[in-house]
Amino acid sequence: MKIKPSKILLGITGSIAAYKSADLVRNLIKQGFTVRVVMTDAATKFITPLTLQTLSKQPVYRDLFGTEIEHINLARWADTILIAPATADFITRLTYGHANDLLSTICLATTAPIILAPAMNQHMWNATITQENCQKLRHRNIKFFGPATGSQACGEIGTGRMLEPSELIQCLQNLILKQSSPIQGKKILITAGPTREDIDPVRFISNRSSGRMGYAIANAAAMRGASVILISGPTALTSEVPTISVNNAKDMLKAVMENVSNTDIFIAVAAVADYRPIQQVNQKIKKKSELLQLDLEPTEDILATVANLPKPPFTVGFAAETNNLDEYAYNKLKTKKLNMIAANLVGNGNLGFDSMDNKLKVFWNDGELELPRCSKTVLADKLFDVIIQRFLDRCTRMKTNPQGNSQI
Ligand code: CTP
Repeated sequence: MKIKPSKILLGITGSIAAYKSADLVRNLIKQGFTVRVVMTDAATKFITPLTLQTLSKQPVYRDLFGTEIEHINLARWADTILIAPATADFITRLTYGHANDLLSTICLATTAPIILAPAMNQHMWNATITQENCQKLRHRNIKFFGPATGSQACGEIGTGRMLEPSELIQCLQNLILKQSSPIQGKKILITAGPTREDIDPVRFISNRSSGRMGYAIANAAAMRGASVILISGPTALTSEVPTISVNNAKDMLKAVMENVSNTDIFIAVAAVADYRPIQQVNQKIKKKSELLQLDLEPTEDILATVANLPKPPFTVGFAAETNNLDEYAYNKLKTKKLNMIAANLVGNGNLGFDSMDNKLKVFWNDGELELPRCSKTVLADKLFDVIIQRFLDRCTRMKTNPQGNSQI
């Protein structure tokens, strides 16, 4: 999804981290943002307005009492106000609605979102009054990027460093992506990783799934403002998305059914074991004979169960095939009654399981699309954009024809 660059009013206050603002301005412009700089008097002690004027190719604003009504003009102009660095003093003035310089007055006069990138000594940051002020600002929907933990200009090590310009830009882009996302607040349930079907207390049947693709899709969905729940089999990965860890297919089904109500999109990325041992033994099976026979029974098909609910969410399946990719994937789309399926070749030197890269072929009722080889993170992003497109398409069609086929 392309992020629409916007107009950023960069407020700079009096911290040593102000020297990084020059780099921030340069890189914001590089990323396509239009930048206007407002400085407090204290900020001009650390970096000259001329530097920022030269980089932003715009006048730098400082004076509340100029010839124009700058505070109103600038407050209206900005799509977003980013204050980096934001000192403890400025945070306090913002909390109490002061309007005693140009920047604080703009903050009072604007309807644009305000973001603060604090920069101060660790004790100033941890001070009760600063933390209380930040809490009050958060309640007023003011966002905070950072601060980071590390070595500080005063020689101490702790929390209070301003994020690096590249990190601030990344946070900004993530926020804009979330705010402009058509799936903001939609509920998305995702399964990922392998399942383990126990043979005895020390052995199990499983597969090579690393969980990377499912975790990357969960992340892509969360970055776009969706409310995501990840239900994961055993993997070595961690996620910032709320995750329910399960072991086997039965538990995965249970977790899915407990969370599926009101789900808008269900994405089954998990490589669920198709069979499990019929007999559950409590003790380790001993080596007794030349031949050991394990009797297996099919596991529950989680995806098909969800797709066949009376009011199913938009369902997306995955198909990992060693051959006849199109035919098998298309069959699964039809027999499981899915809205979409993403298929890839595995085994025989193909990508897929256990690798960092992948490529996919996506099928739906009346179309298909190829997503060429790239890292699983990038691929997850691209696939998720296709999912959103198809999901929104279905929403429009269901609105005009509520009795229509929800699979299409
Ligand atoms: N799936 C599931 N529950 C199962 C098995 C599979 O939810 N018990 C989901 C997977 O998460 C994936 C899709 O179904 O989205 C894969 O379909 P499946 O028919 O199981 O594929 P394969 O296991 O590859 O089937 P086959 O071995 O027949 O090719």
